Amino acid sequence: MIDNIIEEIEELKKEKNAIILAHNYQPKEIQEIADFVGDSLELCIKASQVDEADIIVFCGVNFMAETAAIISPEKKVLLPDNRANCQMADMVSLDELIQKKKENPDTPVVLYVNSRAETKSEADIVCTSANAGNVVASLDGDEFIFAPDYNLGTYSAKQTGKTPIIVPEDGHCYVHTMFKPEDIKQAREDYPNAKIVVHPECNQDVKDLADYVESTGGMVRLAKDPEIQQLVVGTEIDLSTRLKRENPDKEFIPLRRDAFCLTMKIITLQKVRDALKEEKYQVEVDEKIAQKARVGIQRMLDLS
Ligand code: 13P
Ligand code: SF4
Repeated sequence: MIDNIIEEIEELKKEKNAIILAHNYQPKEIQEIADFVGDSLELCIKASQVDEADIIVFCGVNFMAETAAIISPEKKVLLPDNRANCQMADMVSLDELIQKKKENPDTPVVLYVNSRAETKSEADIVCTSANAGNVVASLDGDEFIFAPDYNLGTYSAKQTGKTPIIVPEDGHCYVHTMFKPEDIKQAREDYPNAKIVVHPECNQDVKDLADYVESTGGMVRLAKDPEIQQLVVGTEIDLSTRLKRENPDKEFIPLRRDAFCLTMKIITLQKVRDALKEEKYQVEVDEKIAQKARVGIQRMLDLS
């Protein structure tokens, strides 16, 4: 049954000249059929380079697919389930951001890629968890407006010595803020020889206790380090699925086994097949918004 669906997907991909991009948090079976698996930055770069394909099937959440549609406007971008949203991306409203810009007219605006297209259209530059520090360092002045993740905003401020004006003050990821200092202390007791890596979206008290702070792509590279044999992984559970597949002789221990991003899991093989067959759900961004949002995304890509 599953083999049949995979065959159908392969045939439809050829027939429609499509490519499948998947985020590192996608379930195992989706990672396995994808043409490319990566973090938000890698997926954005890939989406900007897939000249040969007519259709991009994006297995991830809506802000990622929107970013692909903005950066690759000549392609049809499909999200296999149009309920796949990121709660954090909706935590900053356009009005709130515009108000903050009015209060601080000379301050550069950085939008975390985990945001909707219309808020990105108000950004001077976009960042991901892989490059937030570099993006902030590239800006003029000692202050920056940052939305919507409080933890990434304060982390990039710490990395650069600049002062963040964060909007909203409580923007967060419900998955990464589950991790607590006690989880790290427990992991140190249970796995005394392991290294511990956490995502920048975790709270600062958790980041302070970890050995490394990395984007999911950074975690993939770290796992290949010959010095690392056992790694405790403080991010969404399916990143460990990818790490194990690529490093079968090493041990990867999720920092919490309940760290699920529910909307990442609503993409299934059946839905990918149906997306290709019926060319749904097409991600469409208003061209005026897309034009403005593209500037901040392109500035980030130029820095990468
Ligand atoms: P990465 O860009 O590190 O893959 O993170 C995306 C994300 O949504 C983290 O929760
Ligand atoms: Fe959004 Fe958090 Fe899910 Fe990442 S893990 S997509 S930030 S809800």
